[in-house]
Amino acid sequence: MNVLTELILNEIRRLEAAPAPGLTQDPWRLHFHLMPPVGWLNDPNGLCHFNGRYHVFFQYAPTDPAGRGIKVWGHYSSEDLLHWRYEGTPLVSDAPWDCHGVYSGSALVEADGVKLFYTGNVKFDGDFDYVNAGRGAATLRVDMDAAGRFSKKMKLLDTPDYPAHYSCHIRDPKVWRAGGLYHMVLGGRTRDSEGRVLRYLSEDLKNWRFGQEFVPDRPFGFMWECPDLFPLTDARGEERALLSFSPQGLDKEAERRQNVYQAGYVLLPASCLSECSGEACTVATEGFEEWDYGFDFYAQQTFADARGRRILIAWAGLPDIEPDYRNPTCERGWQHALTLPRALSLREGRVFQWPVEELERLRAEALDFSAEGERLRAETPTDCWELLAEALPEGGGELLVGEDLRFSWDAEGLCRLEFLSAAGAGRGRRVLRLAALRALRLIADSSLLELYLNGGEKVMTSRYYPERRGQTLRLSGVAAARGWTLRLPD
Ligand code: FRU
Repeated sequence: MNVLTELILNEIRRLEAAPAPGLTQDPWRLHFHLMPPVGWLNDPNGLCHFNGRYHVFFQYAPTDPAGRGIKVWGHYSSEDLLHWRYEGTPLVSDAPWDCHGVYSGSALVEADGVKLFYTGNVKFDGDFDYVNAGRGAATLRVDMDAAGRFSKKMKLLDTPDYPAHYSCHIRDPKVWRAGGLYHMVLGGRTRDSEGRVLRYLSEDLKNWRFGQEFVPDRPFGFMWECPDLFPLTDARGEERALLSFSPQGLDKEAERRQNVYQAGYVLLPASCLSECSGEACTVATEGFEEWDYGFDFYAQQTFADARGRRILIAWAGLPDIEPDYRNPTCERGWQHALTLPRALSLREGRVFQWPVEELERLRAEALDFSAEGERLRAETPTDCWELLAEALPEGGGELLVGEDLRFSWDAEGLCRLEFLSAAGAGRGRRVLRLAALRALRLIADSSLLELYLNGGEKVMTSRYYPERRGQTLRLSGVAAARGWTLRLPD
């Protein structure tokens, strides 16, 4: 290990060994969502299932809860997607090609281990705009063997290997194998500030050649981050490809695209996964569907586990949210979290997200619902709880979480999530439209809410910061509801 690596690792261990009391005693700490040991977390990276363990790497800035400072990969692993073990920081900014950040990337599982791909961020000294000049964005690889040891860093691609009409913003490799070849997608910004995806091809995971671009059919943001291209098969056996990405620079609309940046997907023919003609692939942006309609969702990534499930995990947060709102955990020495793992399914051309079934093992005591006039009411003795209401009658309804939050829906399928108190930390309202709301499931983990509508047809993920540990839940327009407190099983 070189001296620089050792210094960085020692500093991270020192910070992690002595977190601020505000962090360890923070009632807004999360219980079953992944959060950073100290400091800041953003994208999930290198998601995979290898030799019976799930691995979640993540963008981690241990020195600063606001996300400045050194960006490294943190690492958690788990056998069951419930109990996670922190594994330290296998990738730190200690090489000339990643000295300003070990940026996002992915994992490819092979028989002998896991190949990790990421972007090395470098900001050269000088008078640069750091968009069209002054930035390095090499694509790098590190292997993790079956014993959990990491190899040296290998540089696969660098600026001269990228098309000349691109700016310096190219990053976030996602790699898969199909049709006898390895494929990689990277997110990019052209010199004309158009967001696109680039594809590279390789026979040996070392030598990569340019394959094609994915180009929007009309301007669709200035940068596309965190691309992912993966298959989903519906119940009739029909396979489609999903191109998932996080575009920046889309205009807000009344019922869509309400966050500063977006995160969504388009459906493509399954042949896109294995075939690459060299011609640009035109992305019909009219079909761009957002993954989530809450306040806090970005930089999603998927992987397939040994059971063949396609699981999505995202950052339950966004960059550049201030001055609109500010997470109060910052003052307590940490910020942000990852979403729950969600299994994806394709039904009649729509993609559904549903918390992996392992999470049902969190259910502890049942909540007791009683009638309060026209409404149902239950008390949650803790801040970790789940609510399930199915077969909703036609017409509108409302869920009140204490005096902090209202989720309401009308007969036309317009759904609203609104904060009523300081628990929103500056967040206001998010809306979405369904044909009709028929079912809702809300999972609350202290300061993070995930709301699944119509069995996962649409999802809203939001941080919230209640003063009270327990809450009174009030429901109207609902015939029956069930609920549980949530606790990690032993
Ligand atoms: C997305 C992102 C990625 C980048 C990483 C840096 O949130 O901007 O594009 O690799 O975060 O932390």
